[in-house]
Amino acid sequence: MDPRVEKIRREFKPKVKPIEWRGDKLVLLDQRMLPFETRYVEARTVEDVATAIRDMVVRGAPAIGITAAFGMVIALSEKTIDNIDDALKTLSLARDILSKTRPTAVNLFWALDRMYNKALSLVSTTSSVRELREGLEEEAKKIFEEELEAEIRIGLYGAELLEDGDTVLTICNAGGLATGTGLGTATAPIYVAKMMGKDVSVIAPETRPWQQGARLTVYELVNNGIRTTLIADTALGLVMYKRMVDIVMVGADRILLDGHVFNKIGTLNEAILAHEFGIPFYVLAPTSTIDPKSNVDSVKIEERDPDEVRTVRTSQGKVYVTLKDIQVYNPVFDVTPPKYITGIITEKGVATQPLSVNLRKLLKNI
Ligand code: MRU
Repeated sequence: MDPRVEKIRREFKPKVKPIEWRGDKLVLLDQRMLPFETRYVEARTVEDVATAIRDMVVRGAPAIGITAAFGMVIALSEKTIDNIDDALKTLSLARDILSKTRPTAVNLFWALDRMYNKALSLVSTTSSVRELREGLEEEAKKIFEEELEAEIRIGLYGAELLEDGDTVLTICNAGGLATGTGLGTATAPIYVAKMMGKDVSVIAPETRPWQQGARLTVYELVNNGIRTTLIADTALGLVMYKRMVDIVMVGADRILLDGHVFNKIGTLNEAILAHEFGIPFYVLAPTSTIDPKSNVDSVKIEERDPDEVRTVRTSQGKVYVTLKDIQVYNPVFDVTPPKYITGIITEKGVATQPLSVNLRKLLKNI
């Protein structure tokens, strides 16, 4: 056991708890209401869990995976199931419902597969539905714990790249709200560097249309004592041209073995600009975000409600900023080709160029 990991686990005290498992239900911090209101949503059924993911009460690739994993436990608690065959049918149905919530973040499918495979291995040794449920609850808790451990390691690798006085540019929210742990992926090095006594500040683009940067990243970083400057997405080029950014750190929703990275819409713009201005561009994610099966054309980029673009979210609710019926194209993720990426930081280490070779090497160590 690495003593540095234990030290961070002991000392990092996040101010927010986005996901809490209470034995029979999930209590989720409603991220749609932040930063204006701290409200919680309870999920007691598979449908509740699916709605919470679809409507973005809970969002961010790892947090979606963790929530879905507990959703599989909830599936076995919703009604009385008296035999293992019915339990497996219920789990299969739950997996189906949950997998249709959001298409891009691979952590969702990774967590559902892991939970279903765990169920299959448990039923080879038990015919008790109660034991099956207990085993699955253990597995979901393990997924949650492993995520925090991965983020601490990502934080340690990433913090080595940060110098005292550096400014990090990020995008969206790849912080503790997006992973459920309070630490995050792209934010982990910033928190770890701070714990090491380095003064690191952040530039956060607002991240239209959902404004994860303006509403979540700013809220989270400021609450954790990090100096943060919010910019309009349109200011990205200028802050890099003016050398206000030392390094870019972003999260990921899906990383392909050839090094293509799917992440929040706007990541591609940042990557191209960083490449042009010679600023290192790092992607930070647990290995559960690596998808060894898909290719760049087979990944579905989610498109969401046109009203997300026609409106802005305010403390008073949604406000239209354009014609209410204007035609809209609203893809909420994009894909960054490997040539723009300096390195991918995972809990297993840092894959640098050529990514298609070095990502495979990292996975071999799993
Ligand atoms: O649409 P969202 O808010 O779920 O998108 C989140 C992102 O794109 C994050 O960057 C990604 O999930 C990584 S979270 C550690």
